[in-house]
Amino acid sequence: MVNIAVLGYGTVGSGVVEVINTNHDSINKRAGKDINIKYVLDLRDFEGDPVQEILVHDFDVILKDPEVNIVVEVMGGVEPAYTFTKDALLAGKSVCTSNKELVAKHGAELLSIARENKVNYLFEASVGGGIPIIRPLNSSLTADEITEITGILNGTTNYILTEMSEKGSAFEDVLKDAQEKGYAERNPEADVEGYDACRKIAILTSLVAGEQVDYEDIHTEGITKITETDFKYAKELKASIKLLGTSKKIGDTFYSMVAPVMIGPNHPLISVNGVFNGIFVHGNVLDDVMFYGRGAGKLPTASAVVSDIVDAVKHINTNIITIWAEKKSRLGKFEDFENKFFVRLKDKGFEDDQLLEIKNAFGNVLYVKASDVEDELAFITEPMKESDFAKCIDGFEDVYSVIRVDF
Ligand code: HSE
Repeated sequence: MVNIAVLGYGTVGSGVVEVINTNHDSINKRAGKDINIKYVLDLRDFEGDPVQEILVHDFDVILKDPEVNIVVEVMGGVEPAYTFTKDALLAGKSVCTSNKELVAKHGAELLSIARENKVNYLFEASVGGGIPIIRPLNSSLTADEITEITGILNGTTNYILTEMSEKGSAFEDVLKDAQEKGYAERNPEADVEGYDACRKIAILTSLVAGEQVDYEDIHTEGITKITETDFKYAKELKASIKLLGTSKKIGDTFYSMVAPVMIGPNHPLISVNGVFNGIFVHGNVLDDVMFYGRGAGKLPTASAVVSDIVDAVKHINTNIITIWAEKKSRLGKFEDFENKFFVRLKDKGFEDDQLLEIKNAFGNVLYVKASDVEDELAFITEPMKESDFAKCIDGFEDVYSVIRVDF
């Protein structure tokens, strides 16, 4: 029998307990040993819930119990999760987590401590919720040089953008509705400003690069400026607007960014809608591969955490090598990233003069019309460097919208 302790009895923690209780026979069979939840740590009490019998409020009880082999950290946030994780690994216990903030910030260090102590630090649920992506990158895709990883990595923003696209609603209205339905957090900043997706693409890029990619170095834009009018143009183009986290390798350098992107009908992520996530990977040998599924939610996320617990049970006293060095990976400069841009600006009625001004600034552009949108000009540029685009757009007033384009 293998004893585990679950830190945090919130949405994911209670999901982990539920999954282990529901599927215990098949899980134990696959793990090759019986998994017993010996403790659940939480500051709160849960009177009337059977978990109360195994509830503890002091992490030291878990740390000092030599019978606990695996700690499941599903508390979220950096502290005290960081200290608990480090102490558990140093005490010879494997740690499985869904904590993307912690993995993005201290993943390399915690993996190194795990290696030195012949235990494991596993984090399948930190990116893409229930979608297998960390383990495939570590084991199934090891024959390839990964040259691109692009994902819809945040369910909340994908739900908001899908509703805006399908119902023509405004961002604020959909956000309010999503909060009422419990899809979006009361404080939605981390989702709508792109910070959550940024941490996830930082984790994926670190794994692909084998070195530490700091999320602070990744240019990040959220979806708060996207309007229903932008979607009217997207519709005309049979396109959609998605919040993408992307890393592309050019030469030896990764260029990473999180931003809303207008993607065309042939883009592999176009049909990833609602709360679903999708992750597209390009390898130089395999070519394209896609991962799709529920990127958030109690049971899908718990499913990924429990798969890590099974892996940890199968590898007691053996470290599963994950290449993610603490050495900082040098990302390409954001200014050098090349993109096409969709631009909407006020139609000043100067006709030829204004068109000439646009041509002089951006070269040849593709003009786009949307039915029932008046008094503005919209166009798509040829690919240009971020720095060149910034210089060009700087000379224009009354710019309503700028969205990167991938088609
Ligand atoms: N807030 C995140 C999302 C939860 O909406 O995708 C999963 O990481």
